[in-house]
Amino acid sequence: MQILPLNARPLAIDHIDLDPRWLAHSLSQPQQPISGHAHRSTNTRQFDLEPLRDLGLKVLDRTSLYLTEGLGLDLTGLSLELQNSWFVYHSRGSSAGPHQHRRSVISGCYYLACDRDSGHIQFHSPCVEFADLPRKTWLPQISPEWSILPEPGTLLIFPSGLSHSVTESHSPCLRICLAWNIWIRGQISCPDQLSDLKL
Ligand SMILES: [Fe+2]
Repeated sequence: MQILPLNARPLAIDHIDLDPRWLAHSLSQPQQPISGHAHRSTNTRQFDLEPLRDLGLKVLDRTSLYLTEGLGLDLTGLSLELQNSWFVYHSRGSSAGPHQHRRSVISGCYYLACDRDSGHIQFHSPCVEFADLPRKTWLPQISPEWSILPEPGTLLIFPSGLSHSVTESHSPCLRICLAWNIWIRGQISCPDQLSDLKL
């Protein structure tokens, strides 16, 4: 029997070794509260700042691989553009409810500081089929949610419309994550030229 994982929302998990300068930079950034015990950096163009330009280039490189090698897309004539990027700081007791990143195509996050008690990031399926049935094996394509425990250096790349949340931190350590949105620019041409699209 062949089973096709139809309508998947592919998530890329990767690792980039943490540069201590990135962590020091994150701790130096002005912050504003977003909810409960969570804060975010007031500057939302972090990849424009040294020393994060290098990480931004790595993120674009990995995102291009995700789209071409992972999803089979053809990016000829198109380019990826980092729209915004911001740090999120979670202290003990903080969490984040389900949300999507609107007005974006591809999003991602990179963890600079966390431990085993800092909480999971969970990705939620819009599908409810099989959701409550007992299972021997958890398959990502039919799981109502998929939970990841990040480590420092973990990189995640996902479609911006994929709903996700963060479970509560029980750690005395600050969890620091850099999040971003990517837009695609260029011209998508169609043979009939009637539905050409400029992004
Ligand atoms: Fe998010």
